[in-house]
Amino acid sequence: PEDGPLSGRHVLVTAGPTHEPIDPVRYIANRSSGQQGFAIAAAAAQLGAQVTLVAGPVNLPTPPGVDRVDVESAREMQEAVKRALPADVAIMVAAVADWRTKDVATSKLKKRGSAPPVLMLTENPDILATVGATPALKPKLLVGFAAETDKVIEHAQEKRKRKGADWIVANDVSFDARGRSVMGGKSNTVHIVTAQGVEHLPEMPKDMVAMALVERIAHALV
Ligand code: C5P
Repeated sequence: PEDGPLSGRHVLVTAGPTHEPIDPVRYIANRSSGQQGFAIAAAAAQLGAQVTLVAGPVNLPTPPGVDRVDVESAREMQEAVKRALPADVAIMVAAVADWRTKDVATSKLKKRGSAPPVLMLTENPDILATVGATPALKPKLLVGFAAETDKVIEHAQEKRKRKGADWIVANDVSFDARGRSVMGGKSNTVHIVTAQGVEHLPEMPKDMVAMALVERIAHALV
């Protein structure tokens, strides 16, 4: 690893969506490019951390110096996270699917000759909340993300407490005045919500958001 303010620290990052299978060829998923999480993993490695990146299905190259574990579903992601712990810092950026299909068909569902299938869903584990509620797993600094469309800070502060996170990085994912969404875009506007208050960062490219966040994390650890 590089020499820097996070030298000797293990940083765990989750990124991307999860895919929850319906049958061997179909799935349900959240919308997530994985860009922000990958940028955070890259920034932590640049500051000297040993980084484990648990990634859902995305089309992104592994950042230099990062150990990557690829997973598909939320339950696989949770298992990979537990295996990767302990860590000094965990940053949960993944857009984990809240539900999975209750019964996964072992052969492809047929379209012809039958009514459309009805999907029965069941709740996925909340990985962030599980780590936040388990002292044996909880890193020194636990950071969650929250994509919100309204009352962004209020909801983030509530989420921070409910999930046992130290910080929540909130971003407003409602469409901007020009009708653009941060989803899949190159830049992001985030607010870092902690027990002490809120820091509002200006709109920046996702790699600059990543470095700003990771610098604050390095500072908080000393
Ligand atoms: O509740 P919500 O999905 O908005 O919370 C977002 C935060 O919780 C993110 O940090 C996300 O990675 C994490 N999360 C998780 N497991 C879930 C759902 C969300 O780790 N099943």
